[in-house]
Amino acid sequence: MRRYKVAIVGATGVVGQEFLTILSERDFPIDKLTLLASAKSKGRQLNFRGDMLQVEEVSEDAVSGHDIVFFAAGATVSRQFAKKAAESGALVIDNSSAYRMDPDVPLVVPQVNPDDILKHKGIIANPNCTTTIMVMALKPIDDAAQVKRAVVSTYQAVSGAGIKAIDALFRESLAYLEGEAITPDALPYASAPRHYQIAFNIVPQVDAFGDMMYTKEEWKTVYETSKIIGRKLAITATTVRVPVERSHSISMNLETEGKLTREEALDILSRAPGIRVIDEPEELLYPTPLLASGKDLVLVGRVREDNSIPNGLNVWVVGDQLRKGAALNAVEIGEKALELGCLAR
Ligand SMILES: NC(=O)c1ccc[n+]([C@@H]2O[C@H](COP(=O)([O-])OP(=O)(O)OC[C@H]3O[C@@H](n4cnc5c(N)ncnc54)[C@H](OP(=O)(O)O)[C@@H]3O)[C@@H](O)[C@H]2O)c1
Repeated sequence: MRRYKVAIVGATGVVGQEFLTILSERDFPIDKLTLLASAKSKGRQLNFRGDMLQVEEVSEDAVSGHDIVFFAAGATVSRQFAKKAAESGALVIDNSSAYRMDPDVPLVVPQVNPDDILKHKGIIANPNCTTTIMVMALKPIDDAAQVKRAVVSTYQAVSGAGIKAIDALFRESLAYLEGEAITPDALPYASAPRHYQIAFNIVPQVDAFGDMMYTKEEWKTVYETSKIIGRKLAITATTVRVPVERSHSISMNLETEGKLTREEALDILSRAPGIRVIDEPEELLYPTPLLASGKDLVLVGRVREDNSIPNGLNVWVVGDQLRKGAALNAVEIGEKALELGCLAR
């Protein structure tokens, strides 16, 4: 079996760390793994399958000469180096927002639109974490009854904002319990002109504000979902940061063309790939972020008919955004590209 030269840009970040775990767990066919990050991490050692690998500084040379390069270092770094990596012959799988809406770049969730992988010209984009998790449950419902409109509210974990935000949740929680002063510095995002405490609080802003007073995260949910399912969908979103370490939760209200009862929807979702239904109200069983954390499957529950319209459903979806929302989905794209034989352009 052929093995490949693989690189991770952003290997020292929370998503980068998850890549190391998932590539190892799934025994991805790696010949040589190169770990790249900023100058400040140069020389750091990270464990991969029992070997200590040294982190190198990202550069045009360092991203060249690989078969697959996973980018997880933010949009600026992807814009600077992803094309160079692709030109040198690699398939780039990019976790940032840099290329997601580029018409030449497929945006892929392998359980939803795997064939879009075949259209790549060197770069494939991994969708926004909330979008990936949501679309896993939305697509099977859409296939069965055609979604006319979706109203989405998210409850997003701090790890979605990187290492600094996880640290903020722990630091602020300890300070709060000790009665000490708290100086928030990480959320809604590190470079924001004003910061909010996340410990014992929620923040109704994920990412910066954009058009119509919606945040960029909210617009990503709108545009990326439509691109993945291949048609313009009426969708509106409110994205909220909650004091949860890991795994995003999403409340979806779906208005459908055709009627689906709760039982029909549960049957459809339980047969959908990559999903596990946990929906036993009489036993008080439903998905939570703690249940979803560390798992590959997206958990779905609280399925109910919308009481206010003839054809509608409420669905609660929870997924580990560092796994299915980021590194796992990217690795699955890589596996599918190998299976389809379309690694290089
Ligand atoms: N966190 C999530 O749930 C999630 C989900 C989906 C997608 N994403 C995307 O994944 C990417 C990484 O997010 P994260 O949460 O892992 O962030 P993070 O924990 O802050 O890690 C950022 C990584 O990028 C590297 N980096 C930053 N600036 C760099 C530069 N100028 N040159 C080279 N490397 C640089 C960092 O290296 P140093 O350690 O050397 O600074 C680190 O390895 C982002 O594009 C994010 O939007 C994140």
